Amino acid sequence: MHSPHMILKSTSVSLLFVFAISGLLRPGFAHAVGQNREPNKATLVVRVDQAGPVINKNIYGQFAEHLGRLIYEGLWVGEDSPIPNTRGLRNDVVAALKELHVPVLRWPGGCFADEYHWRDGIGPRDKRPRRPNASWGGVDTNAFGTHEFLALCEMLGAEPYINGNVGSGTPQEMMEWIEYMTSDSDSTLAQLRRQNGRDKSWKVPYFAVGNESWGCGGEMRPEYYADEYRRYATFIKNYSGNHVQKLAVGSHDDYYEWTEVLMSRAAGHMNGLSLHYYTLPTSDWSRKGSAIQFGDKEWHATIARTLRMEEFIEKHSAIMDKYDPQKRVGLMVDEWGTWYDREPGRDMGALYQQNTLRDAVVAGINLNIFNRHADRVQMANIAQMVNVLQAMILTDKEKMVLTPTYYVFKMYKVHQGATLVPVDLTAPEYKVDQASVPALSASASRDKEGRLHLSIVNLDPNSSAEISTRVSGATIKSVTGEVLTASQMNAMNTFENPNTIKPTSFTGYKLQGSQLTLSIPAKSVVVLELR
Ligand code: AHR
Repeated sequence: MHSPHMILKSTSVSLLFVFAISGLLRPGFAHAVGQNREPNKATLVVRVDQAGPVINKNIYGQFAEHLGRLIYEGLWVGEDSPIPNTRGLRNDVVAALKELHVPVLRWPGGCFADEYHWRDGIGPRDKRPRRPNASWGGVDTNAFGTHEFLALCEMLGAEPYINGNVGSGTPQEMMEWIEYMTSDSDSTLAQLRRQNGRDKSWKVPYFAVGNESWGCGGEMRPEYYADEYRRYATFIKNYSGNHVQKLAVGSHDDYYEWTEVLMSRAAGHMNGLSLHYYTLPTSDWSRKGSAIQFGDKEWHATIARTLRMEEFIEKHSAIMDKYDPQKRVGLMVDEWGTWYDREPGRDMGALYQQNTLRDAVVAGINLNIFNRHADRVQMANIAQMVNVLQAMILTDKEKMVLTPTYYVFKMYKVHQGATLVPVDLTAPEYKVDQASVPALSASASRDKEGRLHLSIVNLDPNSSAEISTRVSGATIKSVTGEVLTASQMNAMNTFENPNTIKPTSFTGYKLQGSQLTLSIPAKSVVVLELR
């Protein structure tokens, strides 16, 4: 948005995108795209006989920052609200999120984390201080604090991931927050937690030492942050049987020097290193592109940019491999997703954006990438959960709508904790002008019950795909599944029409003996169960 680190991020544009984007700026957007072409032919081998690592369920994680209408309105309405709620948390949103089996939830930021002081958010709500939200604007009432966040995690069945404050905090403040939440002793802070209504300590398995310390978290050099990280991490203690995984601030995009320095100086002190990468239709943070008005060129450029996630994961992982060949340190992609221009009439800092079929395709592609790199990627948190950036859910006071991205997370939840099954995919090209990307993306897994789950994205908006599929190492007798697609590239759910785009049952397959042929519609996300 606004800060120097955002500008830094924009340097990673490649020539490919310059070609792609040069066509974007022409006037005239076409939303509906012809689909009468011959199907693309592709082949897919699903290698059940070569099982890979377990896909960490936390790859399907979420992120909730004090930003715009995410916390206040999106999740928290207060106990006295006319919007039905349980202990202040709105029932409709919580019920919808439960369907996703959210494994882990990151809070309170983002940039906000480095200005947040946890003591502001405990005790009687009417006595809590009101503080400016210096990162995103407005005043935070602190009505949603530690107890409210951890109650939300319990309602969702999600593990808490708390992001500590390095930028404007101290190691002591961080150490005492962890003691307050997790100690079962009779220490003064554990007693204070009891006075504030929580007898039993919570488990807090993930704690991060700052956020984007190269940017909004303090504009630090990697060498300086590595030392600061080691100092702060020393004071992250385990109380009463809680075991905290310590997460260090990692890089963004192609800032490989940061990863090199952190791994060489601090790998032995961390359990995870983060990576942030946002998908913009352009490479320009001052003119990102519209969330809903786009045509073929913007679609292609967005997809091409999101596919770079794989390159970034592979190159950061290669650096991590040098210092951590056992892959003990997880790569935590704890911010990812689409980021568009502000909608006319919306607050500058609120980062509210609509969500279309294009976002669903972006989500499917990224989740396939994370699955395929499950040996190193141990967590990913889409930005963000409600009303901010690539959200699952949008609200307008008492109204709620589920986005296409929500449905992708619902369809893909079958991969959580399953064993990765490698796939060999030979896909045709999807080209616009000089720019070209593979038209299909896939990943597969096998769950504990032996069911095979195959997710396929046809990212070409113009051509369906006919995929000749072979499963090596298993015999397939039945195929069931769902498909998410629409006739319009920018199909979306609105408060007036909340059911425009939803998954439907998938029937586009032919199974003859061991030969499986899949017909995947243009611009669609498909998840199949093969038995
Ligand atoms: O997700 C919005 C912001 O993007 C986060 O606060 C920050 O970490 C990133 O720059």
